[in-house]
Amino acid sequence: MSTTPSVIYLKDYQVPPFLIESTQLRFELEDDRTLVKAELRLTRNPECQVKPRGLLMHGDESLRLCRLAVDGQVLTAKDYSIDAGALTIAEVPDQFILESVVEIDPAKNTALEGLYLSDGVYCTQCEAEGFRRITYYLDRPDVMSVFTTTVVADKARFPVLLSNGNPVAEGDDSDGRHWVTWEDPFPKPAYLFALVAGDLKHIEDTFTTASGKQVALRLFAEEKDLDKLDHAMTSLKASMRWDEQVYGREYDLEIYMIVAVDFFNMGAMENKGLNVFNTSCVLASQKTTTDAGFQRVEAVVAHEYFHNWSGNRVTCRDWFQLSLKEGFTVFRDAEFSADMNSRTVKRVEDVQLLRTAQFSEDAGPMAHPVRPASFIEISNFYTMTVYEKGAEVVRMIHTLLGPDQFRAGSDLYFERHDGQAVTTDDFVAAMEAASGRDLTQFKRWYSQAGTPVLDITDEYDPSESVYRLRVKQACPPTPEASEKAPFHIPLQVGLLSPEGTDMPLENDATTVTLELTESEQTFTFTGIPQKPVPSLLRGFSAPVKLNYAYSQAELVFLMQHDSDGFNRWEAAQKLGVIILQALIADYQAGRELVLSDALVGAYRAVLNDTTLDPAMVAKVLTLPSQAYLGELSTQIDVDAIHAAREFAMNALACALEAEFSQAYKRCLIDVAYQPSAEQVAQRMLKNLCLSYLLRAGKPEYLALAQQQFSDADNMTDEQAALALVVHSNYQDAAQAMLSQFYSRWSQESLVVNSWLAVQASNPCPGALSQVEALMQHEAFNMKNPNKVRSLIGVFCGQNPVNFHAKDGSGYRFLADQVVALNELNPQIASRLVAPLTKWKRYDETRQQLMRDQLQRIMDSAELSRDVYEVVSKSI
Ligand code: PHE
Ligand code: ZN
Repeated sequence: MSTTPSVIYLKDYQVPPFLIESTQLRFELEDDRTLVKAELRLTRNPECQVKPRGLLMHGDESLRLCRLAVDGQVLTAKDYSIDAGALTIAEVPDQFILESVVEIDPAKNTALEGLYLSDGVYCTQCEAEGFRRITYYLDRPDVMSVFTTTVVADKARFPVLLSNGNPVAEGDDSDGRHWVTWEDPFPKPAYLFALVAGDLKHIEDTFTTASGKQVALRLFAEEKDLDKLDHAMTSLKASMRWDEQVYGREYDLEIYMIVAVDFFNMGAMENKGLNVFNTSCVLASQKTTTDAGFQRVEAVVAHEYFHNWSGNRVTCRDWFQLSLKEGFTVFRDAEFSADMNSRTVKRVEDVQLLRTAQFSEDAGPMAHPVRPASFIEISNFYTMTVYEKGAEVVRMIHTLLGPDQFRAGSDLYFERHDGQAVTTDDFVAAMEAASGRDLTQFKRWYSQAGTPVLDITDEYDPSESVYRLRVKQACPPTPEASEKAPFHIPLQVGLLSPEGTDMPLENDATTVTLELTESEQTFTFTGIPQKPVPSLLRGFSAPVKLNYAYSQAELVFLMQHDSDGFNRWEAAQKLGVIILQALIADYQAGRELVLSDALVGAYRAVLNDTTLDPAMVAKVLTLPSQAYLGELSTQIDVDAIHAAREFAMNALACALEAEFSQAYKRCLIDVAYQPSAEQVAQRMLKNLCLSYLLRAGKPEYLALAQQQFSDADNMTDEQAALALVVHSNYQDAAQAMLSQFYSRWSQESLVVNSWLAVQASNPCPGALSQVEALMQHEAFNMKNPNKVRSLIGVFCGQNPVNFHAKDGSGYRFLADQVVALNELNPQIASRLVAPLTKWKRYDETRQQLMRDQLQRIMDSAELSRDVYEVVSKSI
């Protein structure tokens, strides 16, 4: 690093001294350069107290300025200065037109921020601060402007020219080039700008809004992928209808476009009227996409569509408010997915993600509040905390207010702030105004990091028929604060009678929401005729860790009887945790491992109950993950956790072989493939059964997996069989299947990614050298984030046994890749480094090895701000 990057603080926020009333852009796309001409109508911001004489515009060092003029007067070098990241014009009038021409080089842009090329298609990514790599601008979300964009390019090679809004004019030039002009009537910040130019094909449909407006829907992709857009189209129409029905929100332009690109740093981007999607989040077909893939497409299409209101019409004042749009929009897309599929399954999956990825972030060196107070590089704050915990915070408001008041609050929020750039406080204020509730204390969820821990004890007094719950809350220290004030926590609770039925509580409700506001509180239930078994934190009503000393018998009882589907699964997880933690301790002490009958019995009962949703059966019969068990440990012993889980799964397989075999057969589907909740559930359970059967150690089950692999008419079954065999002891069979799979799918980039990922996550010895070999394979490309994530990301994040090899080889490998990627793509480099930053959780030897590698990264030349921030904060 030449200079230490500076820290930006929320407390330093100031309104912009200038506003941009209109933005006219002209892009001339040429092979070796792109010319960007901008004409901005600037005016002093009446809300700004200070009146600086000059003007500071953001602009990346890579911009080459060709011309600069104020009100038609060309400026010369003495009128302005350019230094690291900014252009300063010494003196400007109160209102003026600023013209600029800059030259940029999209072909050299491997960071994939700003304007770049993805497989020969020009596309942009401007959130958060990518627009300043396109032209000089006030690149901050509280500067909102109306954009008119003209794109000029060779007509034969770039027949499709797109930007935000509605197309208003087009024409051909004499030299084989053509142009299209787009106008977006809605003022927007620069981060929502988009441009796409390429040889793309599209599918088209229309949507009629509730008020009768026709909207054209166009989804673009390369010709070879045109047959994989139908699911996204169906999902888009369903999202548009859902947002009308559930939130009263209509679409506002004449056209909605989605473009699929293969080179993309994230999942997708909600640019106004022109979403750009990672192919992995929009393409889907029966043959090439798993059920999980279909569901991801549905969720991400919905997410980006919902941003049109929660993000675009009402946007963020500054980047500290990122969760204003992301937390709310994740909550909205989660509810949409819950309505489209199984609500309980969706909740279980979201909680699993939160508990592993977010809880560990909240316990690590990069822990930050949902509304961070400072950052070095904003790209590092597109995190599990801002997205997933942010969504949990909105969910808690929903729980506290109830659906009607929440909807009133959301209506008021959109009405008050349409066209504005606002804060999370504004969001909460609208919820308070609509409900009459005081959420002052609740707002600590936005400002305090860390995962609260609830310790709950209870007592029953039969003479008085009184039951008491005593709840203590505490939150561990995190980098921004060592002392935490108590949170306002909605704790949803039900009480089960010994017969397994819900006891009627207040107003005959069976679930009540207890509101915790103090560090210690007692809740009293009267008229309780018998000692109940409490069902705590129903639906996972708050993002907390909960301790209550359930006996194994009580957990088995809850698994069978709890009326809350989420908590039935939770009881199974808790039982699994108790049993696995005991096995982990046995393994560490060198004792013989023995599987508890309680677990076998509980699993058998669930497996034989054909009235249950097969997806929930599959979830219940899945042991707590390696990552979750790690998260629960004070010191993570990857080998012991792995060994304990392997032992338990093998023992369950032998004990329940007949049941798994029957359930497998019950789940076979003989009707046409559908990614419907019902079929997804059957395949999920079927493949879970197959995973246990393969562990029963009989050749007939290997044959079954091989048969499923060759006969499958869908990627879910094909890939499940492949992954199970590759991760099993049948290594010869695995090699044969891997090469068959590759030759079958080598032309399908996304399928090849799953082929890379299956090998990268292989827990068997030798995975690292396999990964290193694959980096030389034709299928790998270090410049494509999807490839990097599938191979390097999966190895370091989802192959704990090999990544944490005692010789430190996994750590060294990751550091090498981070150093290489730091130059190519800082965002990807900085995301990839995360597993090393959690060094404090491991034994001393590993701690040292991990820190050595962090130091090696730190010492390497010219660190990007992205990598610098993460590494320096974690050393
Ligand atoms: N705003 C995008 C979303 O969540 C994510 C994103 C952020 C994409 C930054 C690209 C860059 O929908
Ligand atoms: Zn988003």
